[in-house]
Amino acid sequence: MRRAAIALEHATWGPVGFLNYTAAHHNFYDDLLEEFADCQLCLVDPETDYPVAVACCVPVACSGPDELPAEGWDWMVERAAARRGGRANMLGALAISVPTVHRGKGHARTMIRALRDLSGRMGLDGLIAPVRPTRKDAHPLVPIGDYVNWVDDKGRIFDPWLRAHLSEGGRLVRPCERSMVVEEPLGFWETWAGRELEASGDFLIDGALVPISVDPTRRIGRYEEPNVWVAYGGGGSLH
Ligand SMILES: CC(C)(COP(=O)(O)OP(=O)(O)OC[C@H]1O[C@@H](n2cnc3c(N)ncnc32)[C@H](O)[C@@H]1OP(=O)(O)O)[C@@H](O)C(=O)NCCC(=O)NCCS
Repeated sequence: MRRAAIALEHATWGPVGFLNYTAAHHNFYDDLLEEFADCQLCLVDPETDYPVAVACCVPVACSGPDELPAEGWDWMVERAAARRGGRANMLGALAISVPTVHRGKGHARTMIRALRDLSGRMGLDGLIAPVRPTRKDAHPLVPIGDYVNWVDDKGRIFDPWLRAHLSEGGRLVRPCERSMVVEEPLGFWETWAGRELEASGDFLIDGALVPISVDPTRRIGRYEEPNVWVAYGGGGSLH
């Protein structure tokens, strides 16, 4: 099951694999999944006996959703790894992964509910998640603070994944503008972009939610992925 879950996660996140290169991910992610193995959930199709969705989470100490910082995913991983802030009181969702072939069937919503149930069973106050809005990559130049306020023609929040969280009882707390930070040489970004890049200005690559900014002197590209804090339980709300 462990092997299958890892394969599913790799296949789901492969196109945006540059996210695996944040310092927090590189230093702590794999070890945290091992340490909190009981918190890693698989939804298994009984017909095939193979997982169709995976949800990864860790217990974290958090003084309350209102205190959540502009650093999202990386902050949560570092905090869980360092046990900073004392005893864990919330469950921190790190990723829900559904491979393309199994999307649109409600599996992700099932996993949101499973994470909430788990936080209850563990006696925690609730669930926090730095959510990656699934449609933001089509609008990389729009500030995240504006994007979260977009609505569709029915007046519903525009982003379908944020909408799914809201409809499961989540509350939008605030954007976390620097949720995942990847700082790597230009050659790294050329590898992911599949083309040569000029060191003279910001650029976009497929799957990125905002442009990558360039330091021309050091020939370094910095990506600051914006996510949105969503909380279940614990108070505090954007809307
Ligand atoms: C986001 C993700 C988990 C949703 O999985 P899913 O099982 O298809 O989701 P559900 O069937 O429960 O549907 C939830 C909503 O998201 C929408 N949705 C699902 N995948 C989507 C995608 N790739 N792009 C845009 N919308 C998507 C669905 O249409 C649905 O909205 P609706 O009820 O208004 O129609 C899946 O697309 C995925 O794994 N994506 C890549 C990894 C990722 O971004 N994970 C979330 C990190 S916080």
